[in-house]
Amino acid sequence: MNSPFQTRVTELLDIQYPIIQGGMTNISDAGLAAAVSTAGGLGLISASFGGGTPEGLRQEIRRCRELTDKPFGINMSVGRGDRTALIEAIIQEGVSILFTSGRSPEAYMPRLKEAGVKVAHVVPSVRFGVTAQKVGVDIVVAVGRECGGSPGLDDVSTLVLVPRMVDSLSIPVIAGGGIGDARGFVAALALGAQGVQMGTRFIATRECIAHPNYKEALLQASERDAIVIQQSHGTPHRALRTEVSEMILKREMEGASAEDLAQYLSSESNRRAAVDGDLGAGFLYAGQVAGLVGQVLTVQEVIEDIIQRAVALRERLARL
Ligand SMILES: Cc1cc2nc3c(=O)[nH]c(=O)nc-3n(C[C@H](O)[C@H](O)[C@H](O)COP(=O)(O)O)c2cc1C
Repeated sequence: MNSPFQTRVTELLDIQYPIIQGGMTNISDAGLAAAVSTAGGLGLISASFGGGTPEGLRQEIRRCRELTDKPFGINMSVGRGDRTALIEAIIQEGVSILFTSGRSPEAYMPRLKEAGVKVAHVVPSVRFGVTAQKVGVDIVVAVGRECGGSPGLDDVSTLVLVPRMVDSLSIPVIAGGGIGDARGFVAALALGAQGVQMGTRFIATRECIAHPNYKEALLQASERDAIVIQQSHGTPHRALRTEVSEMILKREMEGASAEDLAQYLSSESNRRAAVDGDLGAGFLYAGQVAGLVGQVLTVQEVIEDIIQRAVALRERLARL
């Protein structure tokens, strides 16, 4: 495929540009995934769509297929519960790319490999990347502490995590966390990554179902406005600084447990805030790169801007 940035990841996933739209619970539906794939990257549908049922996920996959003829994938947390039925649904629908997160996908690897599914596993730590390679995944996504979503407990930044991961593995590594423009993209490639995964940047796109209140809050945010909550519960989440996230943090400091705060931590309260725009209902995920997001653009504009500027940047660096 014609691309100024061909890597092991573009070859493995059969995509034009090594830009992945990370799975985002309640946010990355078929519409966003299809827009990213059509623009030459790889879109991922979050398995949270379709109510978490195999039939619901099938419908979302079919919707995506109607919107794009390019490859797309699914992101699924394999942390808790049995995912066998969801994985069978994916295989039967002919989706051949799965990004897993949460815990090692080991239990599902024999079936996934038998079905020819390419598996990328998302991790915040080198030791989890090493395990993922051992159990047979094709790609590891190394996500640093700057990221929106779950930064993991080790607190290692992308700038250190990615080269450590690259040095520790033989399979390709995708870098995530803090990447939102051409500078981050080129830097990730310089660190040895074969591609990038971005979440926060894609929220501020026209095709994203995030509520305008969420997008506006993201545009207004600086790099200091993505705070880590629930560290005290052992499950850190990076979220936009809002009244709700600051209240959660304050109550945590006073000793509140996850059960005490359950009303604000559920997936449904996140959906009400993120999609319905009721910012008092729950917290909103966002990474530090929010400080670099200044405009709502189309997905194609985001991707083309990155690629065009990255080509110019590469030439500028070569002249140094
Ligand atoms: C709104 C939002 C929801 C997310 N949900 C998930 C998820 O369900 N599963 C997952 O593995 N990662 C999730 N992530 C992480 C992204 O897939 C991606 O790794 C991360 O956003 C990259 O960092 P960045 O936000 O700095 O671009 C989420 C991120 C955001 C911003």
